[in-house]
Parts: sequence; structure tokens; C-alpha cells
Amino acid sequence: MARVEDVVEEALRLVKPSQEEVNAVNEVAKAITEMLSGEVRSLGLEGEVTLQGSVAHNTWLPGDRDIDVFIILPRNERYIGMVKSGELIRELANALSRRGINWVMNYAQHPYLTLAYNGFNVDVVPCIRMSMGEKPITAADRSPLHTLYLRDRLRGLEDDVRLLKLMMKRIGVYGAEVKVQGFSGYLAELLTIAYGGFLNVVKAASGWVPFRVRISLTAHGGVRFNAPLVVIDPIDPNRNVAAAVSLDSMATFIAASRRLLKYPSMVFFRDVAPVPRPSVTAPTLVIYGDYPRGYVEDIVWGQLRSIASSIWNIVKRDGFKPVDIGLYTPQDRYVVIMITVEEAELPPLEEHVGPPVWTEESDVFISKYIDSGDVIGPFIRGGRWVVIRARRVRSIKDSVLRGLKAVGSGVVRDSLLRGEVKLISSVAQVSELPPEIRDSALVFMSKRPSWLTKPEPG
Ligand code: CTP
Ligand code: MG
Repeated sequence: MARVEDVVEEALRLVKPSQEEVNAVNEVAKAITEMLSGEVRSLGLEGEVTLQGSVAHNTWLPGDRDIDVFIILPRNERYIGMVKSGELIRELANALSRRGINWVMNYAQHPYLTLAYNGFNVDVVPCIRMSMGEKPITAADRSPLHTLYLRDRLRGLEDDVRLLKLMMKRIGVYGAEVKVQGFSGYLAELLTIAYGGFLNVVKAASGWVPFRVRISLTAHGGVRFNAPLVVIDPIDPNRNVAAAVSLDSMATFIAASRRLLKYPSMVFFRDVAPVPRPSVTAPTLVIYGDYPRGYVEDIVWGQLRSIASSIWNIVKRDGFKPVDIGLYTPQDRYVVIMITVEEAELPPLEEHVGPPVWTEESDVFISKYIDSGDVIGPFIRGGRWVVIRARRVRSIKDSVLRGLKAVGSGVVRDSLLRGEVKLISSVAQVSELPPEIRDSALVFMSKRPSWLTKPEPG
């Protein structure tokens, strides 16, 4: 079996960008900040155009084509208004159009631009100047302080951050967006500093217990948070940098860390194709509709998640045994929910347990069922009134549609209601799904993470 140090050594070759790529990224970053500085000045704005994120920290992954540029604006009413309303970014966008530069407007807490520039995607984010100890006015304001904090502390650990990001990416937990509910780039950077390197993060994580991990890099310790993972932002004790990390994302990282140490292998770093493994398949209902175009990804995924939890609850209440639920937006073409249950069809009758015979409610229960033709009972069992009655919902499809209709309105719900529902009972049936959805269905039905392989013998 390979030694973990050897695997890390090999993985380093995947995460270290070549000198040419470093030069290309730095050149584009420099050119774009200079160009934007010029535009900001000609618009008569007092903004400082700065490089932030992984390009500024030198922790980007080879092949990444994203550059984060933040425009830091004075902390006064005029600029705060212009940033929040989007007026400032619209002015800048118009100026860029006059130069023939393509951009799209995006919406997070406030609007920002994404430019296509020399083959790179450049996020141009306005923010308000914040000093240490001040409250941020917009969610973007902390970033320049992050870069300042990391500058000296990250030196020499850049490739360790890259290894950590790649591993997190491969096991599906990299990113703080609603879709992933995982680890942000900044969180990966802080963990690397806190434990002093990639392998030390993995060793620490292999001993983590959710809700019992709290990391603070500063003396003041920060406020109390109730979350699976707590990492206090060293530049703002009121923020948990790991707030987005869900229990299952944390658990996935813990489990993968334990496996990596025990059975070192490149599966944690390579892009492993999904292997359709299942020879037995539990019935899986696939419900899909067109991806609602023009909506912010976090909104779409927020709705998907709340629909999934509604479906899960109703399906359980209807007497099914749900095993797993999965959400996918393959190629941003479809919104898809898949749910696996032990049985897709329930028997015609169900037992319905009523109140103890000595309570007031027992009279209500008896009068409800005494005259009912299609009811067996009521009879007494274990001190309670019990009936056997006809089941209202027998097919998983009806139950899932009930769950779907039970959530509040929204574009994702509407799209799913206009879409299709298919019950898949064998791997062969996956071919009945649209081609874009088949891979996700195989991954979901195989029910095993790609990195969970049998240890090589020897
Ligand atoms: N940021 C943050 N919390 C998030 C997302 C972003 O604090 N959930 C801030 C951080 O200051 C980060 C910057 O926004 O440095 C840029 O964010 P992003 O591009 O998402 O992350 P990077 O650190 O640049 O990592 P990547 O290599 O994935 O681009
Ligand atoms: Mg970035």
C-alpha cells in the first residue's frame, strides 16, 4: 500500500500550476485591475481597485479561470447607497460596454459584474471600506481584510491549501454555495493555517466530531455558535466562517480524511468517473423539470432543498420508508429530485392506532370510525383503540406529488409540476431518462461515494 506522504507528493503535481500559467494569471490580473482603476477614475469615483480571493492569495487551482477584483469604496452614505442599489456597478458596466467588454450582471446581497476578459472570468465586486473591529456594511466588505490577514500567515502553505481545495472538490464539499453547503476557499485557507499544513488538517479532521469543533486563530475567541463546525473569522469574531458547512458535508470530509490516512490513494485527488455499481436497485422515483433560467443559483437550490424536505416528510407520513433523497441540476438544463424508497407500492390496508380507551379522545375516535363501512374495528390492543382502514396513498408517485404541492409556490415547484415523474426499478431503466440526467441517476442509485474504494491488496 502507498504511503500517505507519497500520495501527497503525487497529488502535488496536480495542484501546482506551471510557471507559464502563473505568469498568465498574474498578467491578466494586473491588466484588468489597471484597466478598471482607469475606468473608476474617469467616472469620478473614489474607489480603490484591488485583487482579492485566491489569485491574491496565490491559492488558485490550475485550470481555474476566475479572478476576484473588489472595488473598495469610501464608507459614507453616498457610496453605501450606490453600492446597495447597484447604481455604481451599472455606471461601470456602461463604461465597459463602451470599451466593447462583455459583462453579465449577477446578484448576491448586492449586484456585481462578471466580465469575460482574455479567457478569464473576472468578478468585479464593489464593497465598502471596513477596518478591523468595524461592522461590515455589505457581505463583501470583509474580503480585503481577509487578504491582509492571510498575507504573511499563508506564506509557504499555498500548495497545502491547493491540496486541500482539490480534495474537497473531488469529494464534493468545496464551496459555500447553497448547492454544496460545504467549505469556502477562505475556510480551506484558515484550516491550513490553523493546523499548519494539508496533512495536519486531514489528521485533525479524522478526529473531528460535529458540533464539538471550534477553531479560533485569535485570542478573543469569538461569540458562541451552534453549528457542526465553528471557525471564528479572525477579522470578525461575530462570524463563523464555516456557517455554510452542513452536517453531511462535514461528515463527508471527516470520513474521507479517515480513509485517506488509512488507505492512501489518488482517488481523493483524481477525477474518478462514476461507476454504475448497483446490481440490485431499490425503487427510485425521479422527478424533473426545466431549469428555471435567469434565476440566481442559490435561490434555485434553496427552493430545491425546501421541496426535498417537504417531500421527505410527506412520503414518511404516508407510510413509505425513504432511504435517500438526491438533488441535481445537470448542465443547468434540468432541476431533478430523486428519492429512493424500500417499496414503491404500499398494501391496500393500513393500521391506524387511536387513543388509549380511558381518555376523552377515545369517544371522538369511536364515533369517527363506528359507522365507516370500509374499516376493520375499532378493536382494543395494548390499551388503545385501533382500526385497519383503506390506505389513502399507495404509490410513491402520488405521495411525492403531494409533497411537492405542499410547499409554498416558487419557480422550481412550478417547473417540477410541469415536468415528468418516472419510477426507476432497474439500472436498465435509467435509459428512459433524458440523456443529461442519466449520469446523476447512476451516481445516485449506486449509493456509494466515488472515493470509497476497496483498499488495494498488499
Ligand atoms: N468569501 C467569503 N465567504 C464565502 C465566499 C467568499 O468570505 N462564502 C470571500 C473571501 O474573502 C474570499 C473572497 O470572498 O477570499 C473570494 O471568494 P471566492 O472566489 O468564492 O473564493 P476564493 O478564496 O477566491 O477561492 P477559489 O479558488 O475557489 O476562487
Ligand atoms: Mg475566487
